[in-house]
Amino acid sequence: MESTVPQRQVYLSGKIVPESEAKISIFDSAVMLGDSLTESTRTFLHLPFRLDEHLTRLYRSLKVSRVDPGLSLGELKRITQDVLDVNLSRMGSDDDCWIVHNISRGLMKPGPSSSQTNAATVMIFTNHMDLRGWARYYTEGCHAVTSMSRAVPAQSLDARIKNRSRLFYTLADTEARLMDPDAQCVILDVDGYVSENKGGNLFAVIDGELVTPTTENCLAGISRRTALELADKIGIPIREARLQVYDFYTADEVFFTSTPYCIMPATKFNGLPVGDGKVGPVTNRLLAAWSALVGMDIVAQAQRQMT
Ligand SMILES: Cc1ncc(COP(=O)(O)O)c(C=O)c1O
Repeated sequence: MESTVPQRQVYLSGKIVPESEAKISIFDSAVMLGDSLTESTRTFLHLPFRLDEHLTRLYRSLKVSRVDPGLSLGELKRITQDVLDVNLSRMGSDDDCWIVHNISRGLMKPGPSSSQTNAATVMIFTNHMDLRGWARYYTEGCHAVTSMSRAVPAQSLDARIKNRSRLFYTLADTEARLMDPDAQCVILDVDGYVSENKGGNLFAVIDGELVTPTTENCLAGISRRTALELADKIGIPIREARLQVYDFYTADEVFFTSTPYCIMPATKFNGLPVGDGKVGPVTNRLLAAWSALVGMDIVAQAQRQMT
């Protein structure tokens, strides 16, 4: 029987086309070098959350990486909304989606130069927001485990550039899962300070204060900023600092932030219980504040996907 769900429509360098027609060259710099910049935005109630902030970060990543997307931020924003609109009918009323932007330097030319000589390859697609992998962590908390691989120093690649050269993140995730197949990795920088997770930022609650690593060694996450703003709004003191593993072992609460799950509590850190080993009150207050901000219960949405 033929599927009644219309085929996903994606944007590829100038056109919205059915997914099956979106093809890029094996010589694209994204494929050849992992040379591409990226953003992942999510929707709540089918509306993109903080799209302007995501696109601003994308344009900063592009500028620092010397990639010209050939489109203004305003044009890219309009196209993004078009891609979302054309796929809305594929989404259930209780569902949301990711909107992913990948922009590479374009086709590689053989020769000595790696600089951009062709038009950038611009890719935008939506993906169902599948929250099942994270749903139980809202109540149980996850296990945060430090990886062996260290973060690339900012002197080599500034962590604020959101890019797709992700081999070290993948290794860090794989290494943490050797300790616990269910682990979420915590990546340290070369000096031993806590940086980030392969796809999220880290927070600790220490003596009633919400503390997070500075962006010297981690991505300036949009969810990180949202958590800091919400904490400030509800009267939780906030601080950005260089943090060591000791600070996380002795913290009262620990959580990760990232676009899909917003806040993911950690109740174990390298095998030790975090605080009393339960999801803490500050984490729960922030989750409730986030739900109030977006007008829907983000935890309940993830839990409904489990039934
Ligand atoms: C390495 C890394 N750190 C942190 C984050 C969290 O950023 P955001 O809150 O903007 O999703 C991401 C998101 O994908 C990431 O890839």
